[in-house]
Amino acid sequence: MRLKIVAGNWKMNNSIEEAQHLINNTLEQSPKMGLNQLNIFAVPFPYLMMAKTLIAQNDGFTVAAQNCSSYEKGAYTGEVSASMLASLKIPFCLVGHSERRNLFNENAAILYNKLNQLLLNNISPIWCCGEQFEDRTNHNYLDVISKQLNNEVFKLDRSSFSKVIIAYEPVWAIGTGLNASAEQAQEMHQFIRNEIATKYDSEMAEQTSILYGGSCNADNAKQLFSLTDVDGGLIGGASLQSESFVKLISTMHELY
Ligand code: 13P
Repeated sequence: MRLKIVAGNWKMNNSIEEAQHLINNTLEQSPKMGLNQLNIFAVPFPYLMMAKTLIAQNDGFTVAAQNCSSYEKGAYTGEVSASMLASLKIPFCLVGHSERRNLFNENAAILYNKLNQLLLNNISPIWCCGEQFEDRTNHNYLDVISKQLNNEVFKLDRSSFSKVIIAYEPVWAIGTGLNASAEQAQEMHQFIRNEIATKYDSEMAEQTSILYGGSCNADNAKQLFSLTDVDGGLIGGASLQSESFVKLISTMHELY
């Protein structure tokens, strides 16, 4: 069975005290995890080591960075390299979140460099893709995702791609309270899996975890997480309170 993942992307939220409480409360209130499920806290850089230390003895929990530099090292003030993350033993890092694409102008070339930096340092990318609202209303959404796949992750060789987790996050669903319907999510996840099978092979398609993100919460998680091609969620707002994040973790746990 593919790995099931519930990942909380905190974005630029929480003080250190809030961060500690959120992690401790989540760990305390979550059910005991089996091997099929991984829960990830994607926290801001300054909290990575604290988060890693707090979850150290808790099976089924880990941390992710939200970003890394597209450069290897050197005179890039303010940047954090993939090798620095590797030296802290951070196992995952988000790449290509729509906020990075849209607000920080990260294009396919930059994102491909980030993917390579992470993979060179043995960090698994959680690569995000997603269409804008107009792409959906123009019925252009499959082409948009296909283009993102082909210009970024599909440039990786088979062995590198096997380390990638995909997150489908329709931009119109992020932070809007308007999640993709079960039909919309399943259609896109199945499409992505078919594209992986065509690019690599069916074994690769079968083993790749594809997460859904965009207004996923305790009320709609059961429906979304039960879909054949949805392997979990990348959660923004609902990961900022332990009560709702634990509900999402427990929902996945009850399903698998
Ligand atoms: P929301 O869950 O707040 O819509 O955010 C989703 C997201 O962007 C996760 O990366």
